[in-house]
Amino acid sequence: MAKTIGVGVIGMGWMGSVHSRSYRAVPDRFADSGLKPRLVICADEVESRAQQGAKQFGFDACTTDWKQVIAHPDVDAINIAAPNNQHVEIATAAAQAGKHIFCEKPVGRSPQETAAIAAAAHKAGAITGVGYNYRWAPVVQYALQLIRDGALGQLTHYRGRFLVDYGSDPHGVLSWRFRRELAGMGTLTDLMSHAVDMAHMLVGPIQRVVGQHKTFITERPLVPAGSGTHFSRGDDKSPTGPVTNEDYVGVLAQFQSGVVGTFETCRVIKGHGCEMAFELNGTKGALKWNFERMNELQLHLPDDNPAHDGFQILPAAPNHPGYARFNPGPAISMSYEDLKVIEAYQFANSIANRRQGQPGFAEAVAVAEVQDAVARSWQTDRWEDVTPIPST
Ligand SMILES: NC(=O)c1ccc[n+]([C@@H]2O[C@H](COP(=O)([O-])OP(=O)(O)OC[C@H]3O[C@@H](n4cnc5c(N)ncnc54)[C@H](O)[C@@H]3O)[C@@H](O)[C@H]2O)c1
Repeated sequence: MAKTIGVGVIGMGWMGSVHSRSYRAVPDRFADSGLKPRLVICADEVESRAQQGAKQFGFDACTTDWKQVIAHPDVDAINIAAPNNQHVEIATAAAQAGKHIFCEKPVGRSPQETAAIAAAAHKAGAITGVGYNYRWAPVVQYALQLIRDGALGQLTHYRGRFLVDYGSDPHGVLSWRFRRELAGMGTLTDLMSHAVDMAHMLVGPIQRVVGQHKTFITERPLVPAGSGTHFSRGDDKSPTGPVTNEDYVGVLAQFQSGVVGTFETCRVIKGHGCEMAFELNGTKGALKWNFERMNELQLHLPDDNPAHDGFQILPAAPNHPGYARFNPGPAISMSYEDLKVIEAYQFANSIANRRQGQPGFAEAVAVAEVQDAVARSWQTDRWEDVTPIPST
């Protein structure tokens, strides 16, 4: 089992930096695994970002041409952190070159692109990973254990949401996320992919859906290529261009198990910074989690004493999966980037053991099938079954 894994990162913006930092942390946080991701080469189409990435994180080399990352003989795994419109070409080339692939979500701009990418990777026998990082919060993994152990009884209701305000300022620039040709769909693929993946993990497959969507801010300031992120701002004098994908998606869902559910995602909502959250009820109890307080699980597990009825807060602790890698005692806060370190470990471990883990491209396709059904329901204005995406 090779423990040194050569990594090439493509796209050195926010996520490329976070992933690079995370690979570096694996030999430290998971020392007993012996895993040693090696940062071989990074790419960004903006030369200064590629150079800064190499310098800051210690890659051996950098380039503005992602094809050089794929062609590099020391690279075993390609980490795709470029905008969504680049994913299909990069992932397909990586699969054809016999590389393992970690791809940020959404894997494809559309459900069809996600299915095509997954098919190429499957054909090549690649180990895959996807950036559904919220799965890895220790109290979320503990919630999964409770559900599997039957602590909540038979599951009845699920409410998933991902509400963020990064786009709520109309002066927020027209970055790639707001343009259909670059991002694909809007929050249906961007934020909803996290919300649906979480529901799949906790509750299981979704059978049918009906949804609505809305774009609240239809024009945004233009940004020169390579100069802005989705946190950049223009002003009243900036020339503007049209937003071509949706800000908001709401969905009613029925799970195969009979659980009833709702999902809501929005990128322009005031007052919610990063509310990736779920609430789950069963016949014996209930639980709630919100990433904004990611180290707390709210639990309702009633006992014989009615004075204890209601939700109680369980702080993250060393006996929750993954937590003891970061802190020796309970209730010491972990962060978003710690989840990315666990994610990098899981991917490296799958490669070293040649055993596909979750979430990989199969889980991304399951999410894409739900997105496809939601998008169909926008057209038909009716409930739509979740069905396999025909291969193209
Ligand atoms: N899992 C999560 O929580 C999470 C959070 C944010 C973003 N994402 C995903 O990560 C991906 C990247 O998002 P981001 O926020 O880091 O974007 P970003 O705009 O900050 O960074 C993207 C980088 O890719 C570079 N790039 C563009 N085209 C390229 C090309 N052809 N070759 C090489 N580099 C290229 C850009 O110059 C930029 O530096 C997206 O798919 C996004 O949906 C996931």
